[in-house]
Amino acid sequence: MFNVVLVEPEIPPNTGNVGRLCLATESTLHLVKPFGFSLDDRQLKRAGLDYWEDVEVKIWDSLPALMKTKRAPDRCFFVTTKAKRAYWDVKFQPGDYLVFGRETKGLPEALLAANRESCIAIPMHGTRSLNLATAVAIVLFEAVRQQRSGKDGVE
Ligand SMILES: C[S@@+](CC[C@H](N)C(=O)[O-])C[C@H]1O[C@@H](n2cnc3c(N)ncnc32)[C@H](O)[C@@H]1O
Repeated sequence: MFNVVLVEPEIPPNTGNVGRLCLATESTLHLVKPFGFSLDDRQLKRAGLDYWEDVEVKIWDSLPALMKTKRAPDRCFFVTTKAKRAYWDVKFQPGDYLVFGRETKGLPEALLAANRESCIAIPMHGTRSLNLATAVAIVLFEAVRQQRSGKDGVE
């Protein structure tokens, strides 16, 4: 339904958990190299449980390489603590790309500066940032919720 992009992820359990979120929402997981772990890492698969093999994963050498393949009208949102616009103010559309940064450094400043209009934040207090997988869950399920608006139940 959506495209979740992790730029240079470093911690295997985070990527494993994001994989489960993507499977649960019929979304594609895009992983942009370099990674801080091997894709065979046991912790990655443990966090993804038995489901990792079912996750639709695409691997990219760089973010520009991924961006080149993106087709209009698919849009990109850069999820960062450094944005002024809250994620709940976006009207998400199926096919949107939700781009998240690495655990230690977030997304590159130059990328954020070049895409200010498309940067979104999860408003919060008392901490510098949320865990990567938690941040993905919050934004991804808001995007899913918007698509389901008006439908009852969990089907
Ligand atoms: C652990 S955070 C990175 C921390 C980094 N120091 C920063 O400020 O971006 C990893 C990623 O989770 C996402 N994230 C975590 N908390 C967030 C928030 N409150 N708003 C938006 N994105 C957040 C961002 O994509 C971020 O790049």
